[in-house]
Amino acid sequence: MPEPASDALPPVLISEAAIGARVEELARRISRDYAGAGELVLIGVLRGAFVFLADLSRRLKVPCRVDFVALSSYGDGSPSSGAVRLVMDLRVDVAGKHVLVVEDIVDSGHTLAYLVAMLRARHPASLKTCVLTRKARRLETDVTLDYVGFDIPDRWVVGYGLDYNDRFRTLPYIGAL
Ligand code: IMP
Ligand code: MG
Repeated sequence: MPEPASDALPPVLISEAAIGARVEELARRISRDYAGAGELVLIGVLRGAFVFLADLSRRLKVPCRVDFVALSSYGDGSPSSGAVRLVMDLRVDVAGKHVLVVEDIVDSGHTLAYLVAMLRARHPASLKTCVLTRKARRLETDVTLDYVGFDIPDRWVVGYGLDYNDRFRTLPYIGAL
C-alpha cells in the first residue's frame, strides 16, 4: 500500500452523519434487547474501539460499566494471521455479568474469536459482540456478530478510531486508503 502524503486526508467512505445515525440505531436496539437485564459490561478493544465505545455507551439507556482489553496480532498491524496476544487484561470480573464486546472492525475474525473464547471461559451470564464495521472478506472463524454497524469493502479503512500505522485515528469519519 502506498504511504499517503502526510497532509492528505483520505476520501470519505462513511460520513460522520452516517456513523452517528447508525450508532444511534445500534444503541436503540441494544437498549431494547438488554432492558431490565441489569448492568451491562461493555468491553472495548483498544485501541481502535475507543471512539465507537464512547459514542455508543453514551446513547445506551441501560446501566453500563465500561472496561477495556488490549489485544495485538503478532507481527505488524495488518490483518491478523490468527496469532493474537493479550496485551492488557480486564479489571472487571465478568463472571455472572452480561457482557457486550465492542470492536471497531472485524476482518478475518481471529481477534474477536480469541477474545470471545477468553471471555467465555470466565463464565459471563451472557456474551454478545457489537462491531462497527465488517469487511467483505469472508470470516475465517465462526465468531458470532450480534450487532453490526456497516458492511464495508475489503479496503484498508481509517478514522473514527481506526488507524494506519497509528495515523488517522481521530478523523471524525471513516475513510478508505
Ligand atoms: P481480524 O483479526 O482479521 O478480524 O482483524 C481485526 C483487527 O485488525 C482489528 O481489530 C483492527 O485492529 C485491524 N484491522 C483490520 N482491518 C483494518 C482496517 O481496514 N483498518 C484498520 N484496522 C484494521
Ligand atoms: Mg481493533
